[in-house]
Amino acid sequence: MRFQHTKKLMLTACLISSFTQIGYATEADGPALFEKKGCLTCHHLPGTTNAPPMMGPSLNGLNKKHRILDGSMRNSEKNMRKWLKNPRAVKSTTLMPNLGLTDTEITTFIQYFKTLN
Ligand code: HEC
Repeated sequence: MRFQHTKKLMLTACLISSFTQIGYATEADGPALFEKKGCLTCHHLPGTTNAPPMMGPSLNGLNKKHRILDGSMRNSEKNMRKWLKNPRAVKSTTLMPNLGLTDTEITTFIQYFKTLN
């Protein structure tokens, strides 16, 4: 009996943690994830009023940009994935840190960025 109970508890804990794992999986989660990961410290987003000075560019209109990183890189999904995975591997002098994003989180950002017109 006692064992059964423990098993149930463990199952519940696993379920909860798998839910948090797959959280932030759609573009609608973008703004929350943006805040959670500290991106707002350096970037403006439409509808937010984070304090200057901004270290990074505003992401307003990001989807309309043909090139990112001051024109040095084409704004494609593949490049964005590379950038978000490890900014310094793309541009060694950048102030943007590696934020340890998972592939799912990166996908969420990429989907979300497509809505920034
Ligand atoms: C410590 C400040 C800092 C943080 C935190 C930060 N960034 Fe950046 N980010 C930058 C800087 C600076 C650039 C400009 C790139 C460069 O160095 O030329 C940049 C560039 C970018 C670009 C390319 C924009 C363009 O138009 O060129 C994207 C997209 C981006 N960041 C997304 C994010 C996301 C998503 C997060 C959170 C997971 C984040 N950044 C966190 C500083 C930061």
